[in-house]
Amino acid sequence: MPTAIKLQLSSVVDSYLKELGNSDPKRLLEYSVNLHGAWNNILDSFGVRDDDVVLDVGTGLGLIPFDIASKTTAKVVGCDISAEYITHSKHILEKMEDAKLLLDKTRLSFEVADITSLPYSSNFFSKIIVREVFSYLADPYQAAQELSRVSKLGADILVEDIDDSLYITHPLPSPAFETLFDIVKTLQNDKGGDRTVGRKLSTYLSSVGFSIVDVEVITESSHLSSEQMWGEKEFIARQLIALKPQALERGIVTVSEFDSAFNTWLLEEIHSGFRMNGRILVRAKKVVDNLQQP
Ligand SMILES: C[S@@+](CC[C@H](N)C(=O)[O-])C[C@H]1O[C@@H](n2cnc3c(N)ncnc32)[C@H](O)[C@@H]1O
Repeated sequence: MPTAIKLQLSSVVDSYLKELGNSDPKRLLEYSVNLHGAWNNILDSFGVRDDDVVLDVGTGLGLIPFDIASKTTAKVVGCDISAEYITHSKHILEKMEDAKLLLDKTRLSFEVADITSLPYSSNFFSKIIVREVFSYLADPYQAAQELSRVSKLGADILVEDIDDSLYITHPLPSPAFETLFDIVKTLQNDKGGDRTVGRKLSTYLSSVGFSIVDVEVITESSHLSSEQMWGEKEFIARQLIALKPQALERGIVTVSEFDSAFNTWLLEEIHSGFRMNGRILVRAKKVVDNLQQP
């Protein structure tokens, strides 16, 4: 994508971010924008063509479909279990259209759908993307089966997810931060999610008719200045405040335990430091015909 268009695409998203109050959709969009920075080459090498029919599952606020629809006239569907996120995706779609950033608006749609029960015909999509969704699922195998069902024979799939063992920092996180991070992990596991799912993705896919083409660890690493650490801390603090009610409701932590860890961490001095975050990316191809599956 030419740089000018890339900047315009992000300027629509940036201005939408400013419109969103401090809310869950805003935090997700910020998260996705950060993540998307490393995805230019990944999406380019996925090679979406104008005659492809593409599904982005767990699309969030739709960054991947917008990116594809600004470069190709492929038919693209973004789906997500959250009706709220899909409503926002549709609003952003209108703004993208107003800014003339989409090659053909009629080829792009968003709808509510659960990855474990997709409302699409079998053998329908030629390309599927699933970025950071498996880590939220209680039944990843059922999800993989659905992805296989809706894929055409020969379809390409790109699945990426986290694996907590690939997150390293220097200095090490403080005990107070470890406590807070444990609360986040427990909350996600409690809902059936899995923060070490990255290493399992290729096994899920290969068990449902996909042949694994490539498995890659994509890493972001940087030395953050103390100002950047401040920015990161503010971001994490907002996420933690948003998660606190759910953690209390589920009895994972008491108010005083949460507040004590949170306030201790908040008051800790900020130093510059090293961060590496790795994610696992699996490319696979559908090789077993649905009709031949038992
Ligand atoms: C971390 S976000 C990733 C968003 C987007 N894929 C991205 O990379 O920018 C995880 C997304 O998965 C969605 N999700 C979680 N469970 C889902 C399910 N069962 N079916 C479909 N989407 C789901 C969430 O609503 C959320 O939008």
